[in-house]
Amino acid sequence: MGCAPADYAGKPVIAIINTWSDINPCHSHLRERAEEVKKGVWQAGGFPVEMPALTLGETFQKPTTMMYRNLLAMETEELLRSYPADGCVLLGGCDKTTPALLMGAISMNLPAIYVPAGPMLRGNWRGKILGSGSDVTKYWTERRAGNIDLQAWTEIETGIARSAGTCMTMGTASTMTSLTEVLGFTLTGATSIPAVDSNHPRMANCSGRRIVEMVWEGLRPRDILSETSFNNAIAAVFALGGSTNAVIHLIAMAGRAGIKIGLDRFDEFSRKTPMLANIRPSGKYLMEDFYYAGGLPALLRKLSPHLDLSCKTITGKTLGENISGAEVFQPDVIRSLDNPVLASGGLAILRGNLAPEGAVIKASAAEPHLLQHTGRAVVFDSFDEMNARLDDPALDVDANSVLVLRNAGPKGAPGMPEWGNLPLPQKVLKNGVRDMVRISDARMSGTSYGACVLHVSPESFVGGPLALVKEGDLIELDVPARRLNLRVSDEELARRRAVWRPKPSIYPRGYGKLFMEHIKQAHEGCDFDFLEGTAAIPEPEIH
Ligand code: FES
Repeated sequence: MGCAPADYAGKPVIAIINTWSDINPCHSHLRERAEEVKKGVWQAGGFPVEMPALTLGETFQKPTTMMYRNLLAMETEELLRSYPADGCVLLGGCDKTTPALLMGAISMNLPAIYVPAGPMLRGNWRGKILGSGSDVTKYWTERRAGNIDLQAWTEIETGIARSAGTCMTMGTASTMTSLTEVLGFTLTGATSIPAVDSNHPRMANCSGRRIVEMVWEGLRPRDILSETSFNNAIAAVFALGGSTNAVIHLIAMAGRAGIKIGLDRFDEFSRKTPMLANIRPSGKYLMEDFYYAGGLPALLRKLSPHLDLSCKTITGKTLGENISGAEVFQPDVIRSLDNPVLASGGLAILRGNLAPEGAVIKASAAEPHLLQHTGRAVVFDSFDEMNARLDDPALDVDANSVLVLRNAGPKGAPGMPEWGNLPLPQKVLKNGVRDMVRISDARMSGTSYGACVLHVSPESFVGGPLALVKEGDLIELDVPARRLNLRVSDEELARRRAVWRPKPSIYPRGYGKLFMEHIKQAHEGCDFDFLEGTAAIPEPEIH
């Protein structure tokens, strides 16, 4: 390696866990950022060692990145355990990379700092601003309705991702990096900086310097995490109009710190927390605007009455001290408590005979008239069956129908892909309809919208009630009452259950087999059962 003893002797070894890869466009700048982190580590008297780790690239990974979140978490933990690291800097940002890296670091409990990839620049098409994901869904719907030709569609594709960085709507990536900052794992304001802004490499450099100090201070993840800091993060989900995926990831992250969070905690905070970030898909602007408006610190300062500002952070200061000087520069982008985008209720936890362990709906992203709706079920047994039948003119469906997709959960798909915003049948689209009630045990991209009931638990693959729904059954959704019911008698459901048979797993060996044997359900955070908790693991001996 060409290192002299003076380079490393007596210095903290800082592992830079880098999820850069050619296959992940959101992380295409992370090699350069790793160099900035190294520079900072050297400046502060540490010894940096870059360690490549599995990348979870939303755009290409099959069947879904969610299948591999726990694998990256395991890799992170074991890299830090098996090599002689004293502290770590985690480089990620594309959706699942953030919870995965943090889950591993929380379990290992070495001093850790997160360097978020940062959002990409705004998209642009014929003078219109494009937002990641949300506008893909919107314009793809118009293309399927015959309103957009191939030339226009190709232009949209080439105009929507203009730089390195993560999706620039308040999708899962920006939600999770923001929550990471709220939990205290980043430098103040780090998560709002666009990936290609010159402040981004400066932030990476400062993170490199700070981690060395943290090692000397002995400041570890579980020193800063608490039930209160997770409550702050849950409040922030709603203030940001954040992704439904945050529910699963926060439960899993808290589980690694030995903190138990139930679904009802999210409902409780949703009812009392106003949405202040006017960002798509639930608002108007994009992450670049959010940064210019003051970014996350400014939003948190506005949200202060709903937060516990005494929580510790990796800066060595409290959350309150970190945001004390933050200001809002564009009041329509970051709203105040007396002028919120939405007063409360952005997300609801539903229960009923169709979801005994709960389901999630992003009420703020649905057409309001669908929030209390009863309709006949149109049932798809798999994603392939849905694609094959959806546009069949013979499909018995209208705007009042309820589309049901099953076998799309943690074990059923497997991996719980983002299939939950089922596309609307062409028959309905042609009548000008743009939203319908949809129910599944899948997840939904944080950039998507619609009256989509997600994360139905337990999932159909393990015999959850979704498995018993028949075509034409009446399903009742009542979001104000937090209800999701199948209007079928208990006796009839018992008859259906008696003849229901589970499908076999498709994995005879390998990671898929391990996944099927150990993955937990959506309401439990989808961690592997053997990774939860804080039981101490012995340090490997050095011989
Ligand atoms: Fe990577 Fe959206 S595809 S953040």
